Amino acid sequence: MTLEAGNDFERLIEYLRDARGFDFTGYKRASLMRRVAHRRTELGIDTFRAYHDYLQVHPDEFVTLFNKILINVTEFFRDPAAWDLLRDELVPRIVAGSGEIRIWSAGTSSGEEAYSAAILFCEALGEASFLDRVKIYATDVDEEALSKARAGYSAKELESLDPELRERYFEHQGERFVFRAALRRGMIFGRHDLTQDAPISRLDLLICRNTLIYFTAETQGRILARFHYALNDDGYLFLGRAEMLLTNAALFTPVDMKERLFTKVARLQLRERLMVLAQSGNAEASNSIARQLRVRELATEGAPFPQIVVDAMGVLVSANQPARELFDVPQIDVGRALKDLQVSYNPVDLRTPIDRVTRDRQPTTLHSVEIKHGDGTRAIFDVHVRPLIDEDGSLVGTAVNFFDVSHLTHLRADVERLRQELQSGKEELETTNEELQSAVEELETTNEELQSTNEELETLNEELESTNAELESINTDLRHRTDEVERLNTLLLAITGNIELGAAVLDGSFRVQVWNERAADLWGVRSDEVLGSSFFDLDIGLPADQLRAMIQAGTGGRPLRGELVVVATTRRGRQIHCRVIAHTLGNGEHPTGVVLVMEELKPEESRR
Ligand SMILES: C[S@@+](CC[C@H](N)C(=O)[O-])C[C@H]1O[C@@H](n2cnc3c(N)ncnc32)[C@H](O)[C@@H]1O
Repeated sequence: MTLEAGNDFERLIEYLRDARGFDFTGYKRASLMRRVAHRRTELGIDTFRAYHDYLQVHPDEFVTLFNKILINVTEFFRDPAAWDLLRDELVPRIVAGSGEIRIWSAGTSSGEEAYSAAILFCEALGEASFLDRVKIYATDVDEEALSKARAGYSAKELESLDPELRERYFEHQGERFVFRAALRRGMIFGRHDLTQDAPISRLDLLICRNTLIYFTAETQGRILARFHYALNDDGYLFLGRAEMLLTNAALFTPVDMKERLFTKVARLQLRERLMVLAQSGNAEASNSIARQLRVRELATEGAPFPQIVVDAMGVLVSANQPARELFDVPQIDVGRALKDLQVSYNPVDLRTPIDRVTRDRQPTTLHSVEIKHGDGTRAIFDVHVRPLIDEDGSLVGTAVNFFDVSHLTHLRADVERLRQELQSGKEELETTNEELQSAVEELETTNEELQSTNEELETLNEELESTNAELESINTDLRHRTDEVERLNTLLLAITGNIELGAAVLDGSFRVQVWNERAADLWGVRSDEVLGSSFFDLDIGLPADQLRAMIQAGTGGRPLRGELVVVATTRRGRQIHCRVIAHTLGNGEHPTGVVLVMEELKPEESRR
């Protein structure tokens, strides 16, 4: 398209606005131009300029052109899934209260959309409650379409509606079917231009489907701002399938993005509210926001501490009254670069901390800065430098606040003294703690030693117990042996006591161990007089020396049995021949004793 054709088209649009009061300037150019070109071609006209001329001489052409531009395509429950969601999710929430329910079908065309909404709410509420509570405003810029909505539909046009619903909600009127008169009372049809007219307000549900798509982003933004204002805080917005809310996403939040059901974001930031109100053309509300901003401004101005604000470029944006007084900054300096002003370096260098805060985006504080007041008095300030960061993360400026801490100075000294006392107390505690620690360690060592001694004692005890057990068993053994020895002794005594021969038993050292009755009788010494004495030392009538060789014979490994007849003197002084038989006990190498048998020989035996 040539530039000339473009200009001709713009002039044509302006003409429509000025001559017929219909403003198409907010419509997307491409489709608008396409539709006008279509009509122009139908008439066989080549240029927009020629068509412009044609319109001027044919006033009826306006209606035809409007019908060409305003596309009226619609149907009952268009995009059924979206209407199902509306019915199942949102209608129950909307009817849950008890008050009036206000619905606006904007760009309703021939009314199918508005009647669809009426049917949903009537189904949910029942007829009586529907009539009592529900108001449906159905508007369009196209009067012709609205007339059709009022006049009703042909049977063909109702074909897309569920037959049961058609039966319940429409009645014959000649050739046409109109919405039941009883229910129709709650519905108002009227002409409304979305680009120009004030919105219908206090809405619970705003249905504007397949209409915004015809407008430029800017016009959509303005319309959506009005919609935001028109909806109750808990109201819902129902858009067409192709409508994305790209321009004003901050104003609405999706309930279901796919079906284009949204709810209003009730608490907008002041800036957005101002923008919305400015866009929606609501001067009163807009003024109220402006007043709020002024209140904020005055609050800063009247803050009880000096405050200086610079923007991201370092331009002084504000210096409140205490700041202007303290630093002698005239109001006229606001708007100038801070670095050019004396306050940026005198009485304190602000440029360095501001630069740092701008770079690091972290607040910083300059402590105990002395500043002289105009009257010459001095005060101590803590200077807080804070970055101002916007919601989108961008740094928009820096605020410098001066807090007078003069009265805190001696408090600080006290705090410092207390801090030092605390510190020394802390150090003392630390020392005591270490001493205790060492005492604990010593105790632990002693404890370990005791523990090991205890373990040793435990071991000894166990060993003693085991020795004890051994001794007991030895003791038992010994007792058995003693019994055995006693038994044998008794046996021995029984034997030695009852034989007619003198008998003596000598141990390995030839000491007398046994001395029987016959020996006592023969030699005149009792058993208790000789037991334990050396046989060779006995003072009896037996010539022991003569017997020595035989008795000791066993010690040299000689024969273990010897026999000798010696002449002896009995205790009665009678000379006898006595046969002495010696038996060495044990083996030859180590004899353990000797058994002596002593027998008085009869005379005839001694002679032999
Ligand atoms: C495609 S129809 C949509 C009808 C219905 N909302 C639907 O989705 O089935 C678009 C409607 O927007 C209307 N329209 C266009 N510009 C308008 C304006 N400035 N103000 C109000 N309605 C407008 C047209 O007249 C047309 O009826």
